[in-house]
Amino acid sequence: MIAPEQVRTIGVVGTGAIGASWVALGLQHGLDVVAWDPAEDAPERLSERLNSLASPDVGVGEARVTFVETPEDVAAAADIVFEAGPERLETKRELFARLDAAAGPEVLLTSSSSGLRPSTFQDACTRHPERVLVAHPFNPPHLVPLVEVVGGAATSDEAAEAALAVLRHLGKQPIRIRREVPGHVANRLQAALWREAYHLVEQGVVSVADIDTAIASGPGLRWALLGPFATQHVSGGPGGFAHVMAHLGPPMVEWWDDLGSPEFSEDLVSTLVAGVDEEMDGVDVPDLVARRDRALTALLDLKRDQGL
Ligand SMILES: NC(=O)c1ccc[n+]([C@@H]2O[C@H](COP(=O)([O-])OP(=O)(O)OC[C@H]3O[C@@H](n4cnc5c(N)ncnc54)[C@H](O)[C@@H]3O)[C@@H](O)[C@H]2O)c1
Repeated sequence: MIAPEQVRTIGVVGTGAIGASWVALGLQHGLDVVAWDPAEDAPERLSERLNSLASPDVGVGEARVTFVETPEDVAAAADIVFEAGPERLETKRELFARLDAAAGPEVLLTSSSSGLRPSTFQDACTRHPERVLVAHPFNPPHLVPLVEVVGGAATSDEAAEAALAVLRHLGKQPIRIRREVPGHVANRLQAALWREAYHLVEQGVVSVADIDTAIASGPGLRWALLGPFATQHVSGGPGGFAHVMAHLGPPMVEWWDDLGSPEFSEDLVSTLVAGVDEEMDGVDVPDLVARRDRALTALLDLKRDQGL
């Protein structure tokens, strides 16, 4: 499999929100990018998106992006491919069959899929399914460090380790997920939180805006620095995590029994949409995202300084 320092060219298939951000990541690291997207206006949209990132490395690197005619052209030119097309199994199956047919055996073929198990599209590959895997990023991947690496039934250990090494080389913090589960890990954790958040709003316990405050100005601040287990450990004083379990574990089990599982109905969606509309009234969303991304960049720098 390809070694990280041998990677010169990344391939990106599908240059929407996630694909564009993979392109930006490659450019930030001085790599060449070959890209394919079936939308006619994809090159202009990518250019707009890269300009909106306002990152000097990305701006300078734009000349290193080449749009090609087919996914096969991407596979033939790249050392590692990041597939970021629509989240539809049939589309992924067709794309991976075509990528596998055209890529050399050393080329890693990764999918950004948010929740599909890699085995469900890997078996469309007849030549080298062992180098096919999920590398699930968090939006936007050129900033957020986490990437979940998930192999399918036919993925080799070597390919999974090579993908982890390349991603680390690109400044990411990949984790290896040992068993395929729908939604991988981080999205399942988010889904667990969203289930209870939707339930609490549905029950009239709290507003949408107050849930956002509860997380973004409460536990979310700590989770960005330590994660839920380490946070519990340090909150337990000298007794650490074991003490927290003894002390707060039993009451938490009582809360578990009371957690909700709302029906995903039209009524629920309308209530949530109305709550979000109220929260976002008068907010310039592109400006919000730009400020969020600037704060994220500063936070990542601070974390690095503090060794977190
Ligand atoms: N948006 C997120 O927060 C997020 C986060 C992590 C992973 N993902 C995953 O990344 C992938 C892309 O999501 P996105 O949010 O960038 O979607 P998007 O809609 O922004 O982009 C999809 C792109 O795919 C292109 N496309 C359409 N048909 C295609 C085909 N047959 N082959 C290749 N490309 C095609 C579209 O023109 C578009 O540019 C999905 O698998 C999604 O699950 C999304």
